[in-house]
Amino acid sequence: MNFYVMTLFPEMIMEGIGVSITGRALQKEIIKVKAFDIREYTNEKHGHVDDYPYGGGAGMEMQAQPICDCYDAVMREIGEKEKKPRVIYLTPQGKVFNQNLAREYAEEEDIIFLCGHYEGVDERALELLQTENVSVGDYVLTGGELPAMLMIDCISRLVPGVLGKDESADIETFHDNLLEYPQYTRPPEYKGLKVPDILLSGHHANVEKWRREQSIERTLRVRPDLLPEAKLSDKERKYLEGLLK
Ligand code: ADE
Repeated sequence: MNFYVMTLFPEMIMEGIGVSITGRALQKEIIKVKAFDIREYTNEKHGHVDDYPYGGGAGMEMQAQPICDCYDAVMREIGEKEKKPRVIYLTPQGKVFNQNLAREYAEEEDIIFLCGHYEGVDERALELLQTENVSVGDYVLTGGELPAMLMIDCISRLVPGVLGKDESADIETFHDNLLEYPQYTRPPEYKGLKVPDILLSGHHANVEKWRREQSIERTLRVRPDLLPEAKLSDKERKYLEGLLK
């Protein structure tokens, strides 16, 4: 899978993605990440990529020209494809990224990200590039680089071969729209706190049942908004109803 990132800080993207699991996937060429420096495409003689907003107001806007020319360079790199790659503009004004969107994006061959800076981007660039506007949460960051890295990380781990066989993407938080159950490793007792007996019992079916119940309890306590979409068996639904009484 190929990620192309249009940014004013290409080194930030490459340094962030070049380590840990994504770094290994890059080396193995299971994913490719290429950052394009928007500043290299400006026609402005001093290298400016931003200007004051028409109509007044605080801050500066990124101009359409360098972004559109940078996009053309990305498209030349991608070459002729049947389908226009999705172009994601990172902005708090977008739809909120989540695991379902990550699964959808992981099916793509190429994804292009546009990272904004300053107060925003000239709307015409977004129109011309037909961007999908995506937010990573209801808070405001200084630019789109961290959100792009966050999305690349999240999408990459769903690409076959990126996670090792011990790093499953199936049994985890948001699987079935539930939070993950509590996990423990050795020793069996630490600072007076014991690992729940059931996990030491070796009884696989009981362990599974306990984990599902823990997931349901935790989701109810921390993220009840996830429960209407949670995939529960009839028994599990009864268990949840019992917790609500
Ligand atoms: N740029 C600034 N804040 C952002 C956010 N919350 N999500 C995506 N892009 C952003």
